[in-house]
Amino acid sequence: MIGLYIHIPFCRQKCFYCDFFSTKYDADLADKYIDSLIKHSQKFKNKKINSIYIGGGTPSVLSSKQIQKLLLSLSNTFNLSKVKEFTFELNPESASKEKLIILKEFGVNRLSIGLQSAEDKYLKYLGRIHDLKTFCTCYDNAKREGFDNINIDLIYGVPNQTVDEWENILKKTLLFNSEHLSLYPLSVEENTTFYKNGIVTDDELQREMYEKTVEVLEHSEYIHYEISNWAKKNKEALHNTNYWRNLEYIGLGAGACGYLGKNRYKNIENIEKYINFIESDIDCAIENEYIDEKLYTAETIMLGLRLLYKGLSIKCFNSPQNKSALLECLKERTLIQEEGRVKLAKKHVFIFNQIASKFM
Ligand SMILES: C[S@@+](CC[C@H](N)C(=O)[O-])C[C@H]1O[C@@H](n2cnc3c(N)ncnc32)[C@H](O)[C@@H]1O
Ligand code: SF4
Repeated sequence: MIGLYIHIPFCRQKCFYCDFFSTKYDADLADKYIDSLIKHSQKFKNKKINSIYIGGGTPSVLSSKQIQKLLLSLSNTFNLSKVKEFTFELNPESASKEKLIILKEFGVNRLSIGLQSAEDKYLKYLGRIHDLKTFCTCYDNAKREGFDNINIDLIYGVPNQTVDEWENILKKTLLFNSEHLSLYPLSVEENTTFYKNGIVTDDELQREMYEKTVEVLEHSEYIHYEISNWAKKNKEALHNTNYWRNLEYIGLGAGACGYLGKNRYKNIENIEKYINFIESDIDCAIENEYIDEKLYTAETIMLGLRLLYKGLSIKCFNSPQNKSALLECLKERTLIQEEGRVKLAKKHVFIFNQIASKFM
């Protein structure tokens, strides 16, 4: 059983912090792109899929017709009755009722909505084109259409934001009572407006905000199951958890990554070229990396340690080098061992990279 990721590289407007691969939505180009995605998916029609994630970019910027065409084709290509989790990313301003009805009809059972902040002044600062009111309408509509597994994305540590302000934003967001929360510290990436404008973040302040988040959510219904993710019981994201378990997935679309057999690949990050490659039956996976046993183990440990709640089996640390690195970490209590599983000690989340690098 493997996951299927589909990338929709279109947005209405680029947010100031975003380095994800996407361009301005163009209806004609999106029509051609959907046709290519459909053709591309045929290559994998015999695969047994257990999760689908349609992300972006902004999947909800597609027209109702385009969404319907894509989902109809997926339901004809794959056995959706075996798909346990089917996520669709929504941006508040483009998630109409009509689109929500189509998503429900075709078996989407999880939504991930980018709120980013519950304060309009920060939404503006981040270059978002929605306000809190638009998000409320979108969230209410989704609930009314029967969606009972919704994730909300938030970004914290925006310049000039105080820990108290972040706490208020978080508490305001908790009022929606969503099943899942993804909470990310702002990172300033190259090729973004923030980078060009010389925006910098404050690591120490972001750390305080993270600690505040852990404190606020500690006594809630949410389980802190991954470094940046909290979920109510049994509502952990299955598709993403499969990434953290280093399991296989198919990546469809321009710029999408996949991992099949021992090959990790990335499709060409150019919409027109992707369409041409698919239409001419040329392999669009232009970056390929062979994952040998050593790399596989290192990746499995690095990804598995992100899963704070469940960690990973001690059996993953079988090699002599990993055994001795593990012993060292257990001694200094950066890692803990519980019933045959190894977990990252929560208070050491901020030195995660340093700890994980010991197993590379
Ligand atoms: C694929 S992206 C965008 C999904 C969707 N288009 C949206 O805008 O909500 C997924 C999430 O990554 C987070 N993200 C993207 N760029 C980020 C950055 N530079 N720093 C922190 N979080 C970021 C945002 O919370 C975003 O919702
Ligand atoms: S954050 Fe979302 S809407 Fe904004 S540019 Fe990135 S993918 Fe597009």
